Amino acid sequence: MRVLFRVRGSNAIMCGIVGYVGPRPARELLLGGLARLEYRGYDSAGLAIGQNGALRSVRQVGKIADLAAVVDDGSESFPGSYGVGHTRWATHGAPTTPNAHPHFDCTGEVAIVHNGIIENWVELKAWLEGRGHGFASDTDTEVAAHLIEEMSTLPLAQAVAEVLSRCEGALALAVIRRSDPGLVVGGRKGSPLVIGRGSGENFLASDIPAFIAHTRRMMVVPEDRVVEVRSDSVRITDLSGVEQEPEEQDVEWDMEAAEKGGYPTFMLKEIYEQPQAVAETLLGRIGPTGEPMLDGTGLNAEVAKDVDKVFVVACGTSYHAGMMAKYALERWAKIPVEVDLSSEFRYRDPVLNPRSLVIGISQSGETADTLGAVRYARGQGAKVAAVTNVVGSSLAREAHIVLQTRAGPEIGVAASKTFIAQMALLQLLGLHMAIERGVMTTAQASGPVNALRSLPDRLEEVLELSDEMLELANRWRDVRDFFFLGRSVDYPAALEGALKLKELAYVRAEGYAAGEMKHGPIALIEPGVVVFGVATDRRLRSKMFSNLSEMKARGGTVVTLVGEEDVGEAAVTSDLVIPLPEDAALIGAVLAVVPLQLFSYHLATIKGLNVDQPRNLAKTVTVE
Ligand code: M6R
Repeated sequence: MRVLFRVRGSNAIMCGIVGYVGPRPARELLLGGLARLEYRGYDSAGLAIGQNGALRSVRQVGKIADLAAVVDDGSESFPGSYGVGHTRWATHGAPTTPNAHPHFDCTGEVAIVHNGIIENWVELKAWLEGRGHGFASDTDTEVAAHLIEEMSTLPLAQAVAEVLSRCEGALALAVIRRSDPGLVVGGRKGSPLVIGRGSGENFLASDIPAFIAHTRRMMVVPEDRVVEVRSDSVRITDLSGVEQEPEEQDVEWDMEAAEKGGYPTFMLKEIYEQPQAVAETLLGRIGPTGEPMLDGTGLNAEVAKDVDKVFVVACGTSYHAGMMAKYALERWAKIPVEVDLSSEFRYRDPVLNPRSLVIGISQSGETADTLGAVRYARGQGAKVAAVTNVVGSSLAREAHIVLQTRAGPEIGVAASKTFIAQMALLQLLGLHMAIERGVMTTAQASGPVNALRSLPDRLEEVLELSDEMLELANRWRDVRDFFFLGRSVDYPAALEGALKLKELAYVRAEGYAAGEMKHGPIALIEPGVVVFGVATDRRLRSKMFSNLSEMKARGGTVVTLVGEEDVGEAAVTSDLVIPLPEDAALIGAVLAVVPLQLFSYHLATIKGLNVDQPRNLAKTVTVE
């Protein structure tokens, strides 16, 4: 397989867009394209088709098959040879039919589909309501339709350019207008959009699989561009209307590779989507003066001030994110935190009261153990917050406060990007609580906030370690025993490294607090054992290096993951040092997880294992 290009750092991780213009029935091409985007995950879908000065639309919660059943059941007629379709992964508003795309202006003249998040939608909505617009959904997207209505005298491409200028955040749009037959206009700012060039027909999509069955000629819509797609032409302009030369490429991927964005597996794709997952999770949540903003989550100032203790409940990888959250909440917000495995929580009679905040962390939002724990907490009168990747999940519905990670659907069974997104959001929560409770000023929080802001870039840097981790995986393909050690915030990072190795590569791996090794497990250290040490916490580096030298002295092979500044010192007690970008606050431990994910991934791949669906595991664990 030859991969021609990969749009790194701008991977599409949320909704799916398809547009079609040509001689064939648009409904078939749109439904087919949406079905090809199903791998991205979604909760609802819809399409709008134009013909003879009319727009017809249908939206449906559930699967593409449910949408197709409505389109084809004869009760609705969907002729027409141009239109737009969408699969929605809810970010603003529950997964309901009114919130499904396309969205419309007041007159039904404009139908719009969107991938991304409009950060300033609340202000725009208020402004539009002031001008008499009525809204039919809870989405951020709908403001774009009404903005275009405001500009009804402008050519559609110009109106879309104006929308891109006025909307902050990430947008990929596809729009049709009743008065512009045979035209689909796309706009890109921060979210990917590609064009498929057919013969006498053209496609617009958020990802290549939507049209690969029909054409392999494609163009990437560049950032801050508008594209006018007609059956026989494609015209790209910048936001001031100046025409740009389109650059055509050939796709050499097969369908399966295209779904994975050119990566061999979903797991690797998702590891590489981590910078984007963090960027989307933080989008709109850091204000102009650097203040964390968690508006709309239910976490108001009164609740933040009132909390006297936090309990975190979670399982598996989410539990490790919870352990990291403890450091953020205790260090910054000075709130006492207990972290429990969900499956243990309610059986130890935790002492809860109305001032207790119980944070349930679950990427799926459906984990039975975590649901049981938060239901118990609610029953005891505690406040419940959910940190989940799935809007409308059972956990979100049980919670008073919903903090959504926006990692996009995670298809690989082993968690990767949802974990990194959880950690970013929980650190932001720690800083938000610190400021709300008067423990830190916004100025004092600016260091950690800036570290969070730079996390996507730092993650891109650590992804560059993939080849080194492949080399190590090859070197240690037959090693039977691995240890992962850390102290403080590096301890959960070590636990996560060990879990990834167990579940992906089926290798026995122990995660330990480094200081605990001498109390027993050190008996297992002998030549042939590999020890990964995570040593990003500079306050503890001397102690950590001492602990690692104890492993080396007993014949263990020691690999230390450490900030660049400490490489020299780490080298003394290590066989190998993996340098990480130097960074502030609690970010180093987050970065350390990525090479560990890559090591496990490569070792599993070398062994020929199914990394997307490891044996005995399920993506959503709905039994206790
Ligand atoms: O959906 P959740 O985050 O609640 O899932 C929790 C665990 O089941 C999950 O993290 C599991 O440990 C994964 N296999 C980790 O890769």
